[in-house]
Amino acid sequence: MSMLPYGGTLVSRMVTEEEQERLLDEQRGAPSIMLNAWQCSDLYLLGVGAYSPLRGFMNSEVYRSVVETMHLPNGLPWTIPITLAVRDADAEGIRVGQRVLLNHCSGAAVGILDVEEKYCIDNRKEALAVYRTDDANHPGVAKLLAMGSVLLAGEVRVFGDRFSTEFAEFERTPAETRAIFDRRGWRTVAAFQTRNPVHRAHEYLQKCALEIVDGLLLHPLVGDTAATDIPASIRMKCYRVLLESYYPQHRVLLSVLPAAMRYAGPREAIFHAIVRRNYGCTHFIVGRDHAGVGNYYGSYDAQKIFNEIETDTLGIQPLFFENAFFCKTCKQMATSKTCPHSEVERVSLSGTSLRQMLREGKLPPPEFTRPEVAEILLQAAKHHEL
Ligand code: ADX
Repeated sequence: MSMLPYGGTLVSRMVTEEEQERLLDEQRGAPSIMLNAWQCSDLYLLGVGAYSPLRGFMNSEVYRSVVETMHLPNGLPWTIPITLAVRDADAEGIRVGQRVLLNHCSGAAVGILDVEEKYCIDNRKEALAVYRTDDANHPGVAKLLAMGSVLLAGEVRVFGDRFSTEFAEFERTPAETRAIFDRRGWRTVAAFQTRNPVHRAHEYLQKCALEIVDGLLLHPLVGDTAATDIPASIRMKCYRVLLESYYPQHRVLLSVLPAAMRYAGPREAIFHAIVRRNYGCTHFIVGRDHAGVGNYYGSYDAQKIFNEIETDTLGIQPLFFENAFFCKTCKQMATSKTCPHSEVERVSLSGTSLRQMLREGKLPPPEFTRPEVAEILLQAAKHHEL
């Protein structure tokens, strides 16, 4: 398994402070665009090389290839378009060849784009290909349909080496996680993507992986998520207490991924794997309904899609897991691969019933979630943070 970044080299589009000053000076009076939270996180991830080999927002050739074939034109698998949609009014004032300033919604300049192309897309067509639905009730599709159809493409340069200060302590670039893995002597590292608190089922998957690899990168996604997901600030408290209480410290690294959640199920699973390869991981955990939402995807569609692409070129080994649960007869975590007992023996909770329970002031059972985690969630519910 290769520890090389995707495409061979780790891209960095970050600029030094002096370069930033110079670029900003040159840009006085030039057009600027305000990015939304989703676009800001894409810009940051392009900057730190989490999206290597991409160096900027996709042009129409790359975009079409990704949407229609799930590959970059150079043949590397890539499943999610990384694009910059702009409002029609903004688009009118921008010409190919211009350099545009990119601003955070707070107004601060976060980067520049050298406009290589301006093109139009069919958002609905993209939704059907990438999300397998154009239903506006799907949170990812809703965002895609609401954004404009005019895209700007081109290489970016990114200012500042931190996306936000909220989780600064846990924000590590791909170069930084790679250096940590090296220092710790980890030759194999399994990444775990999550947008939830780590419940017993997640813990089981992670610990199964830890039995066979040198280290675990617990890599929660903390960018834009749907309102029904538990806020990242609360999840971070859960991860910290869980790791302190139940994991061998020297075998786990907690770090955040400031990406937006697309809920694109199968296609996002491949994308999540590629990004984790760039962070230096060799293995990637894909369980039940990875990156799914509602009933848009089959429970194991996100695993099946790995058969449709050349896993060798991905350079990161997916680790597939079936639905995990606590079995009251086995008195331990299991899946149907390891437990012969019937469904009634299984303790499992949906996200909706968990929320309901917490709102009613009830602690979720220890078979479902560790008491320390349950307590944090209960407190958050009491303070109306859930
Ligand atoms: S996700 O959108 O980030 O995939 P979540 O945080 O719930 O959502 O899941 C993180 C990872 O754990 C995913 O790979 C998912 O498939 C897996 N997973 C979650 N719950 C279970 C479960 N009960 N059994 C097996 N895998 C699970």
